[in-house]
Amino acid sequence: MRSSPIGRTAGALFAALSFAAGLAAAQSPAVVAKEVDLAQQQQSQQAVQPLNNQPVWKEIRSGVPQITTVQGRETNILIQSQGETWRAVRVPIAFWGGLLFALTVGGLAAFYMIRGTMSTQVKPGDRVIERLTPADRYAHWLMAIVWVTLGVTGLILSLGKSVLLPLIGYTLFSWLAVLAKNLHNFIGPVLIVAVPWMIVRFIRYNGISIDDFRWFAHLRGYFKGEEYPSGKFNAGEKLVFWLVLVVLSTTLVVSGLVLVFPNFDQTRSTMQVANVVHMIAAYVAIALACVHIYLGTLGVSGTYAAMRDGYVDATWAEHHHLRWYEDVVAGRAREQFVQREAAPVAVAAARAKPA
Ligand code: HEM
Repeated sequence: MRSSPIGRTAGALFAALSFAAGLAAAQSPAVVAKEVDLAQQQQSQQAVQPLNNQPVWKEIRSGVPQITTVQGRETNILIQSQGETWRAVRVPIAFWGGLLFALTVGGLAAFYMIRGTMSTQVKPGDRVIERLTPADRYAHWLMAIVWVTLGVTGLILSLGKSVLLPLIGYTLFSWLAVLAKNLHNFIGPVLIVAVPWMIVRFIRYNGISIDDFRWFAHLRGYFKGEEYPSGKFNAGEKLVFWLVLVVLSTTLVVSGLVLVFPNFDQTRSTMQVANVVHMIAAYVAIALACVHIYLGTLGVSGTYAAMRDGYVDATWAEHHHLRWYEDVVAGRAREQFVQREAAPVAVAAARAKPA
């Protein structure tokens, strides 16, 4: 809408009056005397300790109200001094989180080189069992695509300046950082739908029993091809469900929303706390998700079929989820044996390899 000449003149007059009023307030004798005093202190501080702005920070940290034109909950807080504490806390979190991520990826790569894909006497037979319904798989695919995009862009935002910038230079890194930031901010809110949908679809498979603790007690057997018998999902998968999905992903969604929508009258301290919580939850979740993705793809042969086709080989089920397999045999489970050709989707045969 175009304003009239009278409107423009009135606007200019109002701006000029406001400026003059601000100038008058800023130049009251008490304020001028205080500023001169502070400037003198700063000058002598610079002579003794160059770059140390202690007098200014002392005044800011004193809690004496500053003068700002900001309206709302942060009126008169010109510089929020806890911001310095937040800045200092972020560095060790990014360092230890980055180290955790590097050790996880390095550990998985070393494990793969030593052990290779864990394939345990899977004899591709004619029979398959439905592992995940189409709705389960759609919920999981949405979660996987969104979550992995957020994980990768989040790592670029958190570690890129220290790790990537020295390698790829300012121009490329600046493009990458802008792209990562926008992807992260715009795709993040999709988790508001993806997390609850996945929880609702999978919670029925994740009841906890004493056998889950026994499974963990026999964890060595899992890596030696002698798994402790488990139901439809083993205790490790239940840990992914409860810790990575329910606890950490929900924490990431809530803290992420506090950060991405700063217009809900939250203060800067609330956002700083949210940022610290977001970083810690993200690094722990990313490390655990790396292990989950490894075991679901390269790590254990025949497992990825559950995500791709929704069906797994009967011998795979017998080896990895004996209790569930027995339930299917006894007709106690919802799932039944299906001939491979009769499955509603083309089901690829698992590769048969000796243990
Ligand atoms: C590229 C990424 C991913 C791949 C390739 C992948 C792979 C798989 C596979 C193959 C299964 C079926 C395992 C089985 O049948 O025993 C599965 C199940 C599951 N995945 Fe993923 N996944 C990915 C990402 C994620 C993420 C990011 C999360 C959570 C935030 C997640 C949570 C789960 C859960 C909860 C289950 C079911 C386990 C249970 O309910 O106990 N996945 N995944």
